[in-house]
Amino acid sequence: MLGNNLNVSTLGLGCMSMSFGLGPAADKQQSIAVIHRAVDLGVTLFDTAQVYGPYANEELLGEALEPFRDQVVIATKFGFDLEGADRESGLDSRPETIKNGVEGSLKRLRTDRIDLLYQHRVDPDVPIEEVAGAVKELVDEGKVKHFGLSEAGVQTIRRAHAVQPVTALQSEYSLWWREPEDEILPTLEELGVGFVPFSPLGKGFLTGKIDETTEFAPGDFRNTGPRFSTEVRKANLAFVELLKEIAERKHATPAQIALAWLLAQKPWVVPIPGTTKVHRLEENIGAADIALTPVDVREIDDALPPAQGDRYAPAQQRLIDR
Ligand SMILES: NC(=O)c1ccc[n+]([C@@H]2O[C@H](COP(=O)([O-])OP(=O)(O)OC[C@H]3O[C@@H](n4cnc5c(N)ncnc54)[C@H](OP(=O)(O)O)[C@@H]3O)[C@@H](O)[C@H]2O)c1
Repeated sequence: MLGNNLNVSTLGLGCMSMSFGLGPAADKQQSIAVIHRAVDLGVTLFDTAQVYGPYANEELLGEALEPFRDQVVIATKFGFDLEGADRESGLDSRPETIKNGVEGSLKRLRTDRIDLLYQHRVDPDVPIEEVAGAVKELVDEGKVKHFGLSEAGVQTIRRAHAVQPVTALQSEYSLWWREPEDEILPTLEELGVGFVPFSPLGKGFLTGKIDETTEFAPGDFRNTGPRFSTEVRKANLAFVELLKEIAERKHATPAQIALAWLLAQKPWVVPIPGTTKVHRLEENIGAADIALTPVDVREIDDALPPAQGDRYAPAQQRLIDR
């Protein structure tokens, strides 16, 4: 459950890399097969954004999910300057842009309502009250069911929540990025806001399938992320080796332990691992059957040192609200 009243499956499916971000777009039929297999397996939360493509990922979800529309929860995001408004920040959360953007999302997603609409990044030039007010109007019109924020700091969350209740925050959280534990998780618990960790597999690194020799395709974000520099990858391999050992003892895979660890944090934490492959989707969804005890969680916490390296290059880092 996210917030007070958005029922979703234990794990969702992150659909970004099917169109954008982690190398070239995947084959369309293969992506649709992954989405359909997820529906078969009982996944109900599907995550996209206007900027993924831009727009191609929303179109893909619209096509794939149309036959199952009433069974699933579709989450999308607005907030990047995608129509050439030439905003210095690269962001655009002006109310008119939000409203026009939602009309486009509804068409691409082939639906009459967006179940969960996130602001993708906090826009320093638009007060969050105006953003929440615009979303409130869309909720009143029935075009949006729930409001979310992404990578927002605690003050922003509180201010937004006072105007339009926030159902979920989506920010990075995983075994190797644990900053949300300091302030974010306690604030969400206090306010009754759900949490959707993105990149729960550390953009693939926590699965044990990436090492310092792995090459990423041109256009893959990981070519510019400090955590994926060859040196930092090499330094973090010891971390993954420990994760592999723990996984072996639990008769699970490292990806499943990384996801089960998130699920063990709070019942209102719903990770959205991304994959372009059916067999990996099946593996990841298997994490829902691995119950880690508090003792297991403590053991993992004690065994794994903090991972090294910043997560973003400076240009993206400045988009993070604090
Ligand atoms: N709000 C935001 O700003 C934001 C930012 C980033 C992401 N997101 C959302 O979060 C979702 C997930 O994040 P993410 O894609 O960045 O990272 P992730 O889920 O941590 O990792 C995805 C990567 O791991 C690989 N992978 C997945 N399962 C695997 C397995 N069992 N074994 C080995 N490799 C595996 C995938 O490759 P294959 O495709 O080859 O399996 C892909 O390269 C995205 O789809 C997107 O919806 C949101």
